[in-house]
Amino acid sequence: MPRAVGAFLESSRRAAGLSRPVVARALDVPVDEVKWWEATGRLPEPALLPRAAALLGTTPMALQLRASALPPALLEQLLAQQEPAPPAVPPELLDGPSPAPPPLPSPVLTTGLGALHQGDCVRLLAGVPSRSVDCVFADPPFNLGKDYGDGIDDDRQERDYLAWCASWMDELVRVLAPGGALFLYNLPKWNIHLAAHLDRFLELKHWVAVDIKFSLPIPSRLYPAHYSLLYFVKGPRPRVFAPHRLPLQTCRHCGGEVKDYGGYKDKLNPRGLNLTDVWTDIPPVRHRRHKNRGANELALKMLDRVLDIATQPGDLVLDPFAGSGTTLAASELRGRRWVGMELGDCGPIVQRMAQLDAEAEQLRKIRANIDLLFTPTSLDLRDRHGHDSSRYRLLPTDDGDPTP
Ligand SMILES: C[S@@+](CC[C@H](N)C(=O)[O-])C[C@H]1O[C@@H](n2cnc3c(N)ncnc32)[C@H](O)[C@@H]1O
Repeated sequence: MPRAVGAFLESSRRAAGLSRPVVARALDVPVDEVKWWEATGRLPEPALLPRAAALLGTTPMALQLRASALPPALLEQLLAQQEPAPPAVPPELLDGPSPAPPPLPSPVLTTGLGALHQGDCVRLLAGVPSRSVDCVFADPPFNLGKDYGDGIDDDRQERDYLAWCASWMDELVRVLAPGGALFLYNLPKWNIHLAAHLDRFLELKHWVAVDIKFSLPIPSRLYPAHYSLLYFVKGPRPRVFAPHRLPLQTCRHCGGEVKDYGGYKDKLNPRGLNLTDVWTDIPPVRHRRHKNRGANELALKMLDRVLDIATQPGDLVLDPFAGSGTTLAASELRGRRWVGMELGDCGPIVQRMAQLDAEAEQLRKIRANIDLLFTPTSLDLRDRHGHDSSRYRLLPTDDGDPTP
């Protein structure tokens, strides 16, 4: 919904006698983005706010207040207490481009495609140039009191946890390139607040519910069965949006359809069904053999999906909470450049990245089961149990023959 601050941005720009292209040039952003700020009431990212405010003859604080959901009377009262806004500064008098970021400390691991840095991501992110990252995947600690090792506090007061999240989210918003995607994985209870924060600067594309059962029911609560994966985009539209498609759900014993497609069988896309915003096929990583570091390792399948949705080969992916390195492994295997950050022990990631063969094979199997209507296994089962597949349009098999 367009917010009042959008109209304020537009009227202040006009009052300062500036066109959108002039503002875009002065702030070094695409013109489209300026138009999107004005149309939707999104704010320029925190790092750009002082320059934007100077151009528009207002203050960063006044812009933040106008972007808030305060009742109008309270807003007016607070604005009246502000220092009067200075007159707009002409673009040519604004300082030149922002200074180059401090260099990142030496990585603990590099490959041909990426680098892993050990340290606090809030500090490390300062070394990443603005608007340089195509896709961010962030899976922070959930403040559940887990032991992540020395120096990592996972048991903060609620307010402190949200303030800490804001400190790295603002940096992630800054480093995201126009059209870039930011994914943030957390409990719904936190993501409702984190989404509201990000929504001031980015466009919400999806709230994905990832169906993963927690281990135990909690007394007096509904059984929590999903995590939230926020998917935000910088600017009016994503630069890349290419979700893969999924096969029909079939019985694992006989290959029969779980849902009846009646007379529509021949209308279904041979490349499978549209991906929805409820993911029920992401396995928990439980098996010791696959577990690379303590708790909370995410499935390669999930990161593979995220990379398909929002990146192309050669794009730069950043994970500020690398953990066991799933994002980095998926990026390496899928030909994406990557930057990883991890405050704790990086040994397990270094080890994992040195022996990716098994995960390459795992990924090959995952990818053999996407972008088609039936997996090879379910087609075989269907055949053996007499389920008719002839009314579906199927992709040709590898040898060029149409599948039976
Ligand atoms: C939930 S885990 C991430 C798991 C990861 N997605 C994976 O699949 O392996 C969160 C990680 O963030 C790390 N961490 C916590 N605070 C951090 C900080 N300030 N900077 C960088 N890493 C941090 C923890 O050590 C932990 O490994």
